[in-house]
Amino acid sequence: MSENITNLKKDAVSKAEMKKKITEILKNYNNDRSQLISILQDIQSEYRYLPREALKQVSKVLEIPLTQVYGVATFFRSFSIEPRGKHTVHVCTGTACHVRGSLRILEEMERELGIPRGKTTADSKFTLETVNCVGACALGPIAVVDGEYNGQMTPDKVKSVLEKYR
Ligand code: FES
Repeated sequence: MSENITNLKKDAVSKAEMKKKITEILKNYNNDRSQLISILQDIQSEYRYLPREALKQVSKVLEIPLTQVYGVATFFRSFSIEPRGKHTVHVCTGTACHVRGSLRILEEMERELGIPRGKTTADSKFTLETVNCVGACALGPIAVVDGEYNGQMTPDKVKSVLEKYR
């Protein structure tokens, strides 16, 4: 019971903090609705995703319908409306990597992290995604972790690559 109350209090505090942060971000853009994408980018870099509460506040302050804010938030791949992990793993499944066995890398990543592609681990450490070519086909198959390229991947290397981020 008391744990529930503590959690509720924590929730209220973090909501208040978020509200303050979003107000700050909006002010940086003078509450200018034409800056919606930049505002969402700043929110995304603050929280690693676009929390619903934040989008509601943006919608209200900028007087843009929430459906329209969600439309933009879901249109661009760089935005996420689901919480994301601290580290992002991208397994390239473009043609060149595919013919060199990228699916086996992906399956091993899924097994090692215990999540399917597109999801985030329960401890919020990793988000696993696929990408269609990262421009280094000669090094394939490739797994990119937080922007760091790991070329000529094999299923055996998956564990040691992830280990650096655990
Ligand atoms: S297909 Fe993977 S880097 Fe180009």
